[in-house]
Amino acid sequence: MGITMEELRKQFYEHLQQANAAETFEELRVRYLGKKGEVTGLLKNMGAIAPEQRKEYGAKVNALKEEVENSIKDRIAEAHARELERRIAATERYDLSLPSTLSEGSYHPITLVQREVEQIFASMGFTIEDYDEIVDDYHCFEALNIPKHHPARDMQDTYYLSNGQLLKTHTSAAQNAIMRKYGAPLRAIFPGRCFRNESTDACHENTFFQMEGIMIDENISISNLIYFMKTMLSEVFQRDVKVRLRPGFFPFVEPGFELDISCAICGGKGCPSCKNSGWLELCPCGMIHPNVLKAGGIDTEKYTGFAFGLGLTRLAMMKYGIKDIRDLNSGNLKSLDQFVK
Ligand code: PHE
Repeated sequence: MGITMEELRKQFYEHLQQANAAETFEELRVRYLGKKGEVTGLLKNMGAIAPEQRKEYGAKVNALKEEVENSIKDRIAEAHARELERRIAATERYDLSLPSTLSEGSYHPITLVQREVEQIFASMGFTIEDYDEIVDDYHCFEALNIPKHHPARDMQDTYYLSNGQLLKTHTSAAQNAIMRKYGAPLRAIFPGRCFRNESTDACHENTFFQMEGIMIDENISISNLIYFMKTMLSEVFQRDVKVRLRPGFFPFVEPGFELDISCAICGGKGCPSCKNSGWLELCPCGMIHPNVLKAGGIDTEKYTGFAFGLGLTRLAMMKYGIKDIRDLNSGNLKSLDQFVK
């Protein structure tokens, strides 16, 4: 009888101790576990074993086989881990405690103003609604008392899709859907991106943001409208803002107004941002036209309401002193990332 199982185990571990390269591990595997390997060879001794001990002997050989196999595997894994550590140590290290030289990123000025105004109105009991950017002619115009061929449409040329839908020209396009969704009484604001086919300059863009608001209840009057506008603007600017109300025409309000604020960029003296007038149209508004209420399913005998269309883009320009509206869509981080908050 050749080598015993114990001797073989001892011998294997001595060899394993010395092995450290991938090839040596493979050699060991063949030497012990291969067809002609030493562990396999133990089975050849079977003949010399008493028949009643053969089963136990066979099981022991198999256990040794498994032990050898696992030990080799473990050593290979250890060697891999060591190699990885060596490579990490040898290559460039990152010092995670160093302060970053990159900008932290920031919210877009329009997002900042939008959130601020949302909070102000939410605190006055208004819900905040979301609405589509692609709408149909009915919602953008007809439901707002602007029939086909009405001259008011000339002011709001936009981009049409081949299926007849269009990119909404104002947030008023959501009025009908929101009236139908909630009925009266109702207080809601709905910010959104709007589009118009315009030639661009310092104060006109083809893509801009508005925030619409409507309040419908019994006995709502122009005084309610003025109160909410003034409260909101003085909150946003954190001071008393100079405003003026002029008559304005929009088919979906009666009476309608233009609410202007004194230009914060030139202090009212006149500059390119305010077309040298010292005033900026910021918030057209008015009492909702009965036809619009009716289209929204509201009982006009019982309810009245006001609506406003705040120019969020203009407001952001005023608040942050941004002189050219085109900066807002430019994606130029140099001008946009100063508003980190
Ligand atoms: N939707 C109008 C516009 O964009 C503004 C507006 C809204 C006017 C609500 C009155 C009431 O020109």
